[in-house]
Amino acid sequence: MGTTEAQVEELIAQMTPAEKAGQLTQYFYFGLPAGAETEPALGLDVERHPRMVESVLQEGGAGSLLFVTDPTEINRLQRLAVEGHRLGIPLLFGFDVVHGLRTILPVPIAMAASWDPGLIERAQSVAAREARAVGIHWAFAPMVDIARDPRWGRIVEGAGEDPYLGAAVAVAQVRGFQGREPGAPGRIIAGPKHLAGYGAALGGRDYDEVSLSDSDLWNVYFPPFEAAVDAGAGNVMTAYMSLNGIPATGNRWLLTDVLRDAWGFEGFVVSDANAVRNLVTHGFAADPSDAAARAIGAGVDMEMAIVDPAYEHLPEALESGATTQQAVDASVRRVLEAKIRMGLFDTPYVEEDHAREVLTDPAHREVARVAAERAAVLLRNEGGLLPLDGDKLGSIAVIGPLADSKRDTLGPWVFDHDLDETVTVLEGIRARAGEGLRVAHARGVRVVQRVFPSMFDMFGGNAPDDPEGFDEEAEFKRAVDLARGAEVAVVVVGEWQNMIGEAASRSSLELPGRQLELVQAVVGTGTPVVLLVMNGRPLDLRWAVEHVPAILDIWYPGTRGGAAVANLLFGDVSPGGKLPFTWPRTVGQVPMVYAHTRSHEPENQPRRYWDESSTPLFPFGHGLSYGRFEYADLAVDQPAIVTTGTVTVSVEVTNTADREADEVVQLYLHQRHGAASRPVRELKGFRRVTLAAGESRTVRFRVGPKERRYWNAAVRDWVTDSSSFDVWVGADSTAPLATVFEVKAE
Ligand code: NOJ
Repeated sequence: MGTTEAQVEELIAQMTPAEKAGQLTQYFYFGLPAGAETEPALGLDVERHPRMVESVLQEGGAGSLLFVTDPTEINRLQRLAVEGHRLGIPLLFGFDVVHGLRTILPVPIAMAASWDPGLIERAQSVAAREARAVGIHWAFAPMVDIARDPRWGRIVEGAGEDPYLGAAVAVAQVRGFQGREPGAPGRIIAGPKHLAGYGAALGGRDYDEVSLSDSDLWNVYFPPFEAAVDAGAGNVMTAYMSLNGIPATGNRWLLTDVLRDAWGFEGFVVSDANAVRNLVTHGFAADPSDAAARAIGAGVDMEMAIVDPAYEHLPEALESGATTQQAVDASVRRVLEAKIRMGLFDTPYVEEDHAREVLTDPAHREVARVAAERAAVLLRNEGGLLPLDGDKLGSIAVIGPLADSKRDTLGPWVFDHDLDETVTVLEGIRARAGEGLRVAHARGVRVVQRVFPSMFDMFGGNAPDDPEGFDEEAEFKRAVDLARGAEVAVVVVGEWQNMIGEAASRSSLELPGRQLELVQAVVGTGTPVVLLVMNGRPLDLRWAVEHVPAILDIWYPGTRGGAAVANLLFGDVSPGGKLPFTWPRTVGQVPMVYAHTRSHEPENQPRRYWDESSTPLFPFGHGLSYGRFEYADLAVDQPAIVTTGTVTVSVEVTNTADREADEVVQLYLHQRHGAASRPVRELKGFRRVTLAAGESRTVRFRVGPKERRYWNAAVRDWVTDSSSFDVWVGADSTAPLATVFEVKAE
């Protein structure tokens, strides 16, 4: 027995059933700002909650805390657990390190739009370094849920609609958080979430139920999870909703048969917040004790709880025989092993000076800037309006309520950010413009408040600031006048960050408030307009696509967002990001994915609606550049292979422009016939390349059995058909350049 195992067994032998239940319980600990109100949705008593958690720690009643980010606080609470209880078992501190801790990176959907796994890994390693320095050991990230309905607010936290891109982004994030393995110095445990299918919530309504076919699960929703597990993720989080009628948090098939038995997951599973208790709410468990027994039986090692954890009832479930000693010990073992791996028994505390140093590391801000530059997607650039020529331009009007909002620039899911460090679009343009260029700003329209308060409002500074006495009519006119008098108008539109994220779904994809009207009035002045879109989901830009020459999607670009945007606008770097989702024209087309099957009368596919085309506004993988790329000489090294064989596909890509730029070369595959009808195209390879002016490069991809296999719902297994396969390589999912190869039975 190695030291780890021996230590673990020794501890387990000393623990009472209540202490074991405690190890398996994770509490929120909120250090809320003074005067914060009790948040009814969370059912917390702000005054009493911290005291309650502190006494629980001294009774050995918690194995982990979440939501503490201050190193002094973390040390104080850790001391209560280590020195305040006879067993002295250190706490694991978890947190939503979704896209940065102090240095805020672009939101996850934006990082996915970079199609750059190396960058994503580097970015999340910065997040990990900051988190670890303050004493956080574990990120509730990456969110690897496939999202095919942009009404769902959490689309912003994932990598979009595609399982292949999603899997690549998941792996990059796991490596970024964890390094080589859980426990690597300066890194934290990654917790891919939410197993599984959460993104398919009915109607895009958060937390709503999910029904997914076997084929959808295995071919679309599972692959990013399996890839994250393969990459060594130390934790997995369950999902809130029911999947095909069984709540995910009580679903033994999902958490044991699939996760552990099929994928070989060896880490620990945590429930989403209150999801174990909620097995009762779902009408699944009879009471909290039944919920605890069934969750642990399904494979939930640790319960994330706000108040009244169901796992408090584990001792009674043990006594009644509803659960077994063996099941409880197995979960405790996994949690203790994670603590040993993280070195917590040797070094439970953090050095606060070191934390301060890490949090102010300027190299981290640089990574955030580069990430924001590489994430941006140039949706449209008629007449080459972009890049702007900073030497020739005399005046710019920067318009829109999001142009100078620090909080919105950061996006949702940040709590420990530094607003002083945050560069807005206006500030970025001002800093880049220098002396000769006049930059004027008007908000133009007022902010739009949510219909319901956000659950994050309790942290303060979450809702958009709505200046008192704001005269919208006067401000609207001032914005239009500024635009009229300027040589170029840069209009920033989108959604306030609190309109997207958890519990922030929308029934419409329209620009909120009077933003469209503002764009129309500015375009009406005749001044050339560059539209910057700040978003985490596709928005209805049908009018803009007809009337605005340049549209750049900047997402919620993070701490150095404004600096990145200025570099893109003035051409210091070329946009090279690509859409990680299909961009519908209107909400009525949702869901719309590029990887659909041909179905009946495919020639009528673009005309399926009476009142709107059924093509998207922008296809999956779309994104323009200041470079100009030509694709030629697409070839397959062998015309025919056997089912276990692999072909190498090559293509020559040339940048015919007179400047350096990036292109994401994408490979799509289609199986013509076989034991199932397969999608018209599926992404099966991509590479982001930087090409100098005039440079050509041969890019190669391997297409083997792994790229061709699929889950067949009739035989309920993986299948590799012999068939003809079409291959396209190009700039997006509509790439025309094609070839074909044959796969024959052995
Ligand atoms: C609920 C969310 O669904 C989950 O993603 C998050 O990690 C936890 N709350 C903790 O904040």
